[in-house]
Amino acid sequence: MSTAAERRERLKEVWREASTCTLCALSETRQTVVFGAGNADADLMFVGEAPGANEDRGGLPFIGQAGRLLDKLLQEVGLERADVFIANVLKCRPPGNRDPRPTEIATCRDYLHRQVELIEPKVICTLGNFSTKLLRDDPTGISRVHGQPEVHVLGRRAVRIFPIFHPAAALYTPSMLDTLRADFAQLPGLLALDPPEQPAAEVFEPVPEAEPDEPDGAPEEVASEEVAPVDPQAPEDAAASEVAPVDDRQLGLF
Ligand code: URA
Repeated sequence: MSTAAERRERLKEVWREASTCTLCALSETRQTVVFGAGNADADLMFVGEAPGANEDRGGLPFIGQAGRLLDKLLQEVGLERADVFIANVLKCRPPGNRDPRPTEIATCRDYLHRQVELIEPKVICTLGNFSTKLLRDDPTGISRVHGQPEVHVLGRRAVRIFPIFHPAAALYTPSMLDTLRADFAQLPGLLALDPPEQPAAEVFEPVPEAEPDEPDGAPEEVASEEVAPVDPQAPEDAAASEVAPVDDRQLGLF
């Protein structure tokens, strides 16, 4: 079991790793890696699709029109950004806002799973088709599953997945706003439920202790001779001291 402070520090390490990611070709066209932002110990996490132009410039998720609607819907159920963590399936903007490609989704998935493991949300609201299909691990579209919570295991964590339409859909189809509002209205009740039961931790068989060797007169191998003794006064090695500190504000972390 780790404390919230330890999980937060590990989340910053994942951010640091993701911020220079070159695992897929989106790294060649993006301006900024949009890791996600919000409360590192949130009970509620939102997962959208991918950064758009505003997010690519600003480095934070949902800061355009869809983000403003998301803020409004949150406010209507008594929540604000500082209460939740917002991430995306892809951390980099697809050129021209095209749909994420299956290989990009597969390559980026590990970052999302690590975010879920470290934030430990009780509920994950998937926004739209891409995050819903990915996190439910099922091709059923958002129209058929929205508003219906289900428990799924992501990585090593059981979480309530709650699919809702992407807020951008309501920008184009205003009648969608009523559906979004009705689904958002379920959130306080879902957050009040006990967290889902977690899968059993892996149990390792204890390794039997080895019998001590009979002394055979041969000199022991001195493997440790090659290990340089640690000098507590020595300056940190260059590589370690070059790691830039993570600015919580840059990460948008509360
Ligand atoms: N749409 C998304 O899915 N994510 C963002 O961050 C912004 C718009």
